[in-house]
Amino acid sequence: MRVLSAAPLLQDMLPEISARVQKFRAGSGRPPKVALIRVGDDPASTIYLKTKMNRAHKIGIDSELFAYPEAVAEEEVVARIQHLNQEPSVDGILVQLPLPDPLSEKSILDKIVPEKDVDGLTTVTQGRLFRGDACLAPCTAQGIVRLLKTAHVNMAGKHAVIVGRSLIVGRPLAMMLLHENCTVTVAHSQSRNVATLCRGADILISSVGSPGFVTPEFVKEGATVIDVGISRSCSPDGTKCVVGDVDFRAVAPLCEFITPVPGGVGPMTVECLMQNVVEAAEHLWNGGSASE
Ligand code: GUN
Repeated sequence: MRVLSAAPLLQDMLPEISARVQKFRAGSGRPPKVALIRVGDDPASTIYLKTKMNRAHKIGIDSELFAYPEAVAEEEVVARIQHLNQEPSVDGILVQLPLPDPLSEKSILDKIVPEKDVDGLTTVTQGRLFRGDACLAPCTAQGIVRLLKTAHVNMAGKHAVIVGRSLIVGRPLAMMLLHENCTVTVAHSQSRNVATLCRGADILISSVGSPGFVTPEFVKEGATVIDVGISRSCSPDGTKCVVGDVDFRAVAPLCEFITPVPGGVGPMTVECLMQNVVEAAEHLWNGGSASE
């Protein structure tokens, strides 16, 4: 059994992304920049955004947060996105989800021009991903594929079972694993016999958000288990902690590879966002247009 932590991979990725940022800064005379939009004050969203801004700062990427109260009118958020679409110093735009009711996530996300869609959540980007065309792919799905590649997990022909069908993780990951020639099953809240489906997986990815959801009866001996869940919990001594979907202690002995929570998929998501921002900046700088 090997624990697939993000830390060594991030260490390996740092020189390359730093060099790209340096080169971009030298050529364009400015840093790559990402604009982050938050509506309301969901504590998890606030923490995620702070993590993204800290990582950007460390790499030399500029970031700016636009925070709105929960009761903001949809038109105000849309107007901000339209302004950012046109702003030459901004390379990427991210709207942190979930958005509070009655805001329409899909409608708001689709106002971002695809060239600046660094989270990979617009209809155009997801359509490109579906077709297997080049795009800024959603960060968590990208991070998972990178982790698997780094561990030299042979994906071709393997059965990958994804639990969860969200637009952020499950669906884009299904496409990316298909492109890696996996056989893909997507299980969800209406699926029957989920444990049996999961036990057929060579690669099991859980993105449910329910602590302890994946128990040993879900896992085939020698499987690779990727835990995307992030839930807040309390350890027995009362201190707050973050836990994943997988009962790590019980499941780990069965696995070839397993990701920890925290320190597995989460940091990879942030790193792939940084990669997407640099990618978008380079593309726009090299003449790609951000029209609308
Ligand atoms: N909320 C939880 N994860 C994500 C993410 O990867 N992107 C966005 N935009 N919102 C999220």
